[in-house]
Amino acid sequence: MSSIKITFIVDGVKTTVAGDKNKTILDTAIENDIDAPYSCKGGACATCIAKLKFGSVELEQNYILTDSEIDEGMILTCQGYPTSNELTVDVDDI
Ligand code: FES
Repeated sequence: MSSIKITFIVDGVKTTVAGDKNKTILDTAIENDIDAPYSCKGGACATCIAKLKFGSVELEQNYILTDSEIDEGMILTCQGYPTSNELTVDVDDI
């Protein structure tokens, strides 16, 4: 068990939930009824782009984001696995 904390900002509302380093950020959002956008869940459509405001994430697949976007903190929630114990993911700031 590797329980961690993930704070989502969606439509200006902050919600903090328990996450898991073995689950994507998007799956954690869906399980907690957080209205994070997504479509393909395969790292190809960019619907799930969000900005990482705090913490660190590893992207399993990425067919869209450029290196400079990644440097700015952009992530794909459907491909992002938390690598820190606390994260803040802003879906609005894209
Ligand atoms: S849902 Fe399509 S890239 Fe994440």
